Amino acid sequence: MEYFTLNNGVKLPAVGFGTWDVRGEAGKNAILTALELGYRLIDTAQMYDNETIVGEAVRESGLARRDIFITTKLYRPSSSYQKAKAGIEKSLQALQTDYIDLLLIHEPYENALEMYDALKEAYEAGTVRAIGISNFGQKEYDRFLERCGVVPAVDQVESHVYYPQLELKEQLARHGTQMQSWASFTEGRRNIFVDPLLNRIGAKYGKTAGQVALRYLTQNGIAVIPKSVHRDRMEQNLHSLDFTLSQEDMEQLASLNEGRSLFGWY
Ligand SMILES: NC(=O)c1ccc[n+]([C@@H]2O[C@H](COP(=O)([O-])OP(=O)(O)OC[C@H]3O[C@@H](n4cnc5c(N)ncnc54)[C@H](OP(=O)(O)O)[C@@H]3O)[C@@H](O)[C@H]2O)c1
Repeated sequence: MEYFTLNNGVKLPAVGFGTWDVRGEAGKNAILTALELGYRLIDTAQMYDNETIVGEAVRESGLARRDIFITTKLYRPSSSYQKAKAGIEKSLQALQTDYIDLLLIHEPYENALEMYDALKEAYEAGTVRAIGISNFGQKEYDRFLERCGVVPAVDQVESHVYYPQLELKEQLARHGTQMQSWASFTEGRRNIFVDPLLNRIGAKYGKTAGQVALRYLTQNGIAVIPKSVHRDRMEQNLHSLDFTLSQEDMEQLASLNEGRSLFGWY
């Protein structure tokens, strides 16, 4: 596994497992399969209503807790200092753990700074190993940085070959924040798996279009958390790290950038 080192030295696996819409017994089994295959980062959120099965799968996997990286996120119901404090307790309980590896504020809420005070407190107390934000664009990040006190370790944002957000990535990197992509496969907004360029480049390396799409991001220094409930796809996504795209291929892939969000964000 490749890692990105966060601004406090914590190591973030370059490829993690997304769990949006992964629920119930089938969902728990999917997370168990991911862990069995070698995923070591599980991305969840209070909004996904699945922290409990994440906690169960981690426990049932037989792996040591310290070998698994758990990310979760607080959202609107936690948007005050007191509510965020309670939210952190709620996540710890649901995940059945005494610490969270990475805790993010899910979106740039009006009270994000107040919420962040609770995150900083948990960070200082050691119940959270790294803190950060999600869906903060360039302006929101700049504004947040002026007053947040602790530079966010991660900003998790929409990023894929059609909108990689490389300028945001550079801006974050300048200040010590690691970018992590959600919707690396566009969450179905585009049929990325039939993209001619991704397939043509993939054929040269014996890789699929999906693997090229992920490698383009990780090679640009962006961590990824693809979600799949299918074993073969999970395996494929995890094995997107074992090849290197040439400079020429990276340049060609850059031409796919349409420069705007497929979700109407940012
Ligand atoms: N911070 C945020 O606001 C935010 C927002 C959205 C998502 N997220 C996180 O980011 C993770 C990833 O985003 P996402 O799940 O929304 O979208 P995604 O990773 O872009 O796409 C997931 C979809 O692609 C399919 N898929 C996965 N691997 C495939 C492969 N190798 N070949 C063909 N199809 C494949 C999956 O279907 P199958 O499952 O049927 O294989 C699933 O429908 C989420 O799970 C969540 O943890 C965060």
